[in-house]
Amino acid sequence: MSDDEKAVKIPAQAEGPTEGATLTKDAAPGEVLLKVTGLQKHFPIKKGLLQRQVGAVHAVDGIDFEVRSGETLGVVGESGCGKSTMGRLITRLLEPTAGKVEFQGKDITHLGVGGMRPLRRDVQMIFQDPYSSLNPRHTIGTIVGAPFKLQGVEPEGGIKKEVQRLLSVVGLNPEHYNRYPHEFSGGQRQRIGIARALALNPRLVVADEPVSALDVSIQAQVVNLLDDLQQELGLTYVIIAHDLSVVRHVSDRIAVMYLGKIVELADRDLLYKSPMHPYTKALMSAVPIPDPRRKNAKSERILLKGDVPSPISPPSGCRFHTRCWKATEVCKTTEPPLIELRPGQQVACHHPENFADQAPQDTVLLTAAKEAAELVADEVLAESAETSAAVAAEVAAEAAATPTEAAEPTEAAEPSEAAEPTEATEVAPEASEDDTPAKEK
Ligand SMILES: Nc1ncnc2c1ncn2[C@@H]1O[C@H](COP(=O)(O)OP(=O)(O)O)[C@@H](O)[C@H]1O
Ligand code: SF4
Ligand SMILES: [Mg+2]
Repeated sequence: MSDDEKAVKIPAQAEGPTEGATLTKDAAPGEVLLKVTGLQKHFPIKKGLLQRQVGAVHAVDGIDFEVRSGETLGVVGESGCGKSTMGRLITRLLEPTAGKVEFQGKDITHLGVGGMRPLRRDVQMIFQDPYSSLNPRHTIGTIVGAPFKLQGVEPEGGIKKEVQRLLSVVGLNPEHYNRYPHEFSGGQRQRIGIARALALNPRLVVADEPVSALDVSIQAQVVNLLDDLQQELGLTYVIIAHDLSVVRHVSDRIAVMYLGKIVELADRDLLYKSPMHPYTKALMSAVPIPDPRRKNAKSERILLKGDVPSPISPPSGCRFHTRCWKATEVCKTTEPPLIELRPGQQVACHHPENFADQAPQDTVLLTAAKEAAELVADEVLAESAETSAAVAAEVAAEAAATPTEAAEPTEAAEPSEAAEPTEATEVAPEASEDDTPAKEK
């Protein structure tokens, strides 16, 4: 289909959130929508007058995964492990160094701006920082309506009407069409970002830490909204988070990243019930389940010692060996491939946890390691539990409530000075490079 044929009018869409189902595209549930093979992104490090390349940041270093239509893939890992880079590679805001990205069976790895244009409708991104990702000088109407202009799409009934419909879909007042971003709270701004992402009726939405800049109580509302929209619109999500508690309730499968690699990729329940990679286990132990019966299970908490090694020269063999309590000689020399050790659970480890074939010495090692491991600070646990509990409670309680309730008060926040992505769907905001989890306390 040519670009012109595709740039036709999109049908008028129903009013209000409950009838939003008319937006749904004919997606065969379970069909592979996105396929990533051997994906790499190395950022060159240049020095001197001649700007000679002296090395590279191995931000994403050979990852493989698929995302099926209608599912939510959660991606977790510590800051700097390459999650955002991965998100920008699959939405083609970054050019991969190597590997392949296929969308609906089509190789999009090296498509240029022109080639990507029709795809920009199907693949959208929601950014971490709702303060910097909206242009402070544009009205909400302009921001949410920008994708139509960029794509030359004329919604039936006009852009204004469609934008107002989108605002009500994400739980904002359609009358606020002419207001500016600074008139909205963080949670409301993130809703605006979501409305913009939904404008062209995408199939895949990549959300990069969509709630980490928001207050804990608001986080749950936004997570709920994403969840509701998925049901109503048949969306497929890749949701990136540094906190396992955020993705837990919305993901069907979860990929755990460490230093540019996927170390475990599993169905959500399997991952939480019996994580097999030691790193997953450590991440999990820092996120206590809000279950009073497990409150005192301190021995289960593992705090990794040492810093994340530099992605400029990642450790040999298994990249986790410098911090792993189970590391043996083979771990230092041989990289473990990501293989399916149980149906629905892929793991890259020579000595996986919760595995029948585990050698006896592993069990001994683990016990010794747990004894030696420090306990996670109580404040960290408390905060994590708070998030987890808030999300869980809200997801359960608000399932029936309409997503149109914009409960957040409008606070007059200063407009951010950071980058302004004037062309929302085409440009990534610079400011979200900053990955400090700026959680409001
Ligand atoms: N544009 C860039 N140039 C050079 N290095 C980068 C760039 N973007 C990210 N990196 C580096 O790549 C690594 C992965 O970053 P990122 O994907 O942002 O991780 P995460 O989102 O998991 O925190 C980090 O070491 C980061 O400093
Ligand atoms: S391969 Fe070795 S070092 Fe890596 S996670 Fe497994 S046991 Fe630890
Ligand atoms: Mg990031």
